[in-house]
Amino acid sequence: MKIETQAVHAGDRKKPGRWVPVTTPIYTASTYLYEEMAQLDRVFGREEPGYSYSRYDNPTSAALEELVTSLENGHGALACSSGMAAIQTALLTALTDRRKSVVASGALYGATISVLAKIFEPLGVEVTYVDVCDLGAVEKAVAEHRPACLLMETVSNPLLRVGRIDRVAEIAHAAGAAFIVDNTFATPMLVRPLELGANLVVHSLTKFLAGHGDVLGGVIVSDAGHYETLRTLARACGPVLGPFESYLAMRGIKTFPLRMERQCSNACRIAAWLTEHPGVERVIYPGDPSHPDAAAVKHLFPDGLYGAMVSFEVRGAQRDDIFRFMDRLKLVVRGTSLGDVHSLMLYPAMASHRELSPKHRERLGIRDNLVRLSAGIEAVEDILADLDQALRMA
Ligand SMILES: Cc1ncc(COP(=O)(O)O)c(C=O)c1O
Repeated sequence: MKIETQAVHAGDRKKPGRWVPVTTPIYTASTYLYEEMAQLDRVFGREEPGYSYSRYDNPTSAALEELVTSLENGHGALACSSGMAAIQTALLTALTDRRKSVVASGALYGATISVLAKIFEPLGVEVTYVDVCDLGAVEKAVAEHRPACLLMETVSNPLLRVGRIDRVAEIAHAAGAAFIVDNTFATPMLVRPLELGANLVVHSLTKFLAGHGDVLGGVIVSDAGHYETLRTLARACGPVLGPFESYLAMRGIKTFPLRMERQCSNACRIAAWLTEHPGVERVIYPGDPSHPDAAAVKHLFPDGLYGAMVSFEVRGAQRDDIFRFMDRLKLVVRGTSLGDVHSLMLYPAMASHRELSPKHRERLGIRDNLVRLSAGIEAVEDILADLDQALRMA
């Protein structure tokens, strides 16, 4: 063969040997070779397991999907290119063959509200927002709108409200609606929504699951009833995660329980410390017995694990004071994400809830002196010292 042909073919397409890689490799191939066309035909027809084209299935992503399915105790999963791709695909799955109507929590992540308002509503989907912590209001909205699906987050952002997923699931199912839960903030360490009646669970993998601030990804974990529709949608629309990102997410998840436990215990110490701090007006933390949803938290979360998020109001601070306070942080990272090994702080009025008018934010209870902290795995004393020096000068 000539060098041009050698360059393309030599060394490739080795049959796997009798060894098994201990961790899943990154399979970058977009297509797969079989000995006979008849076998590829069976794989295409899904009569035989295998891979034909990486938009349909990829071995690295399949390993990640199996891992997350196991964590959430689901039937199957789809790894997506971002948390938002996962939310959009979960909504499409729930709406296929159903009435085009959604009842959604009023306290959703801003981009999720944008997806509903800027994409789904213009496509003719009716969207009704409701306070999911008020079960009477959920029942009323469902009776009135007969939605195809209900959508909520386990823990809301940034006020960390916790609704009774199990009770909302009952309302959804009684009305024949699918129930989607975004479990990004709580993670399966705290709550497994599928066990409480959710049909589709969504994660931004970018956050606690991958955990290192080095990968953007999402995942949908499905019950048996929605899985085929989900895969059909994925094959048609291709919202899938690439193999490099799947590998990174999988690598991150191996230490997720250890990280999460540490992050939760750090958050607990930070919340207690902030409560005593003269520079702090109000602390919002689901583990606090005076939290407005303390009963739901007690019912849903395991003892001692209340998540890694703490929101707090700096006493008397205006926007400029918050900027100064956050600029003084030396260890805690001023970042828009959460769930990483490093502690992160976000200013909701400037970032996640920037698009809302000050009046709208006030109505939601998001004041201009509120900040949101995601506890990392650092030594908690170092996090407290950093907060203290920044607060003293605020
Ligand atoms: C609760 C929640 N869901 C979904 C997303 C979207 O995830 P991604 O940024 O990976 O698209 C985020 C991002 O911050 C989030 O906080």
